[in-house]
Amino acid sequence: MDKFVIRGGNPLLGTIRVSGAKNSALPCMAAAILTEDEVVLENIPQVRDIETERKLLVSMGGEVELGYGRAQHRTTISCRLLSDPVAKYEIVKTMRASSLVLGPLVARTGLARVAMPGGCAIGGRPIDLHIKGLETMGATITYEHGYIEARAERLKGAHINFDKITVTGTEDLLMAAVLAEGETVLENCAREPEVTDLAALLTAMGAKIEGAGTSIIRVQGVDKLHGARHRINPDRIEAGTFLVAGAITGGDLCIANCNPAHLSAIIGKLEEAGARIDILGKDSIRVRSEGQLKAADVSTEEYPGFPTDMQAQYMALATQADGTSVVTENIFENRFMHVQELVRMGANIKVDGRTATIRGKSPLSAAAVMCSDLRASASLVLAAMVADGESILDRVYHMDRGYEHIEEKLRGVGAQIRRMGNIFADKRELATAEAY
Ligand code: EPZ
Repeated sequence: MDKFVIRGGNPLLGTIRVSGAKNSALPCMAAAILTEDEVVLENIPQVRDIETERKLLVSMGGEVELGYGRAQHRTTISCRLLSDPVAKYEIVKTMRASSLVLGPLVARTGLARVAMPGGCAIGGRPIDLHIKGLETMGATITYEHGYIEARAERLKGAHINFDKITVTGTEDLLMAAVLAEGETVLENCAREPEVTDLAALLTAMGAKIEGAGTSIIRVQGVDKLHGARHRINPDRIEAGTFLVAGAITGGDLCIANCNPAHLSAIIGKLEEAGARIDILGKDSIRVRSEGQLKAADVSTEEYPGFPTDMQAQYMALATQADGTSVVTENIFENRFMHVQELVRMGANIKVDGRTATIRGKSPLSAAAVMCSDLRASASLVLAAMVADGESILDRVYHMDRGYEHIEEKLRGVGAQIRRMGNIFADKRELATAEAY
């Protein structure tokens, strides 16, 4: 398993570029199931979850080209033949977002079999609201051998009010509704930019959608959708992570290819913590700090509030701020896996239920630490960049799920970070090489 070796102490200086949003690309790739025509998606990030989604679509009979040439970062998907509308456990267990194929499969083929996604490090991650919505639209749901089976001659438009705001639940049912018979009204929807991005693709494919990005989405079902070409939004969480990186290292960093309009809550919080942020135009933003940061409380909320996906990264910054910061995680029940690793580096953090109290400024010392999930990994990278000495981060495959070429990007602006393959695996490969 790959590790990162990071030596702290360098302020980040220069320009760093943001890739396409993983959490936009995943539903948009699933949307290709809804048509027999080709769907072309640009600005796809080269991350592990995208490869997993490619495997998933191919396993169901789809054809997926995925290219990352310099200009490309493009995928071309054709689901003309969906010979096997089953999302198998071997794939689903590696990526919960596989449940995003549930709605489109039922809408397109009348049948979907999706392995129940287990929980993950940050929580139980149920999909009961996805299922309840499909039942309301007339699907018959059965459970057997760890799979959900959803059947419907043709889904019927319905009025669905989500008990809780759910991002992929909104996306799944939006994709179910676009081919349903009649009108569907979705209430208490997620307002994340990833929902709006998906709705833009679906509209380009011929869907009739109003209200995406608000809490009420109205869909007029159509009989057929056609292919389309669509450019994926920049990744607002990657951009937010880089804003924190510039602030925590006392650097001067320009973040390019981003969308500042999606970053308001993050920008506001970092300015409250003492960072200086300037919006340089429609797709770039500058963060500076002399390293004197102030404590500021954070409470995670659905968009447009402060994102749960930025909580771990912000906590790393809070360890370097003067004063006491209180971080409250309202979305997931177990999203403090990074805390113990930060404490091992010298942070002063106490957790009580969904609240963490961080007392700073605590000088951090380099350590061998373990990544547990995607955003916890980002938090440890940020901490290691300001720790005294050389840290070793293990299980960085978590980071590779959602951050494209992260070590090259950070090295390009002055971070001392390199990837170290598993020495045993390397020796084994070397041995094999020598044998031939
Ligand atoms: C999406 O997950 C993102 N993933 C997550 O990003 C993100 O953290 C999350 O939204 C919140 O913003 C993708 O878009 C692929 P939810 P999702 O459904 O849709 C409960 C990352 O780091 N809930 O909005 O799975 C759920 O337990 C990942 O990139 C139900 O109870 O999250 C949670 O408490 C991590 N029943 C809350 O709702 C349901 O049927 C919000 O979850 C669905 C959700």
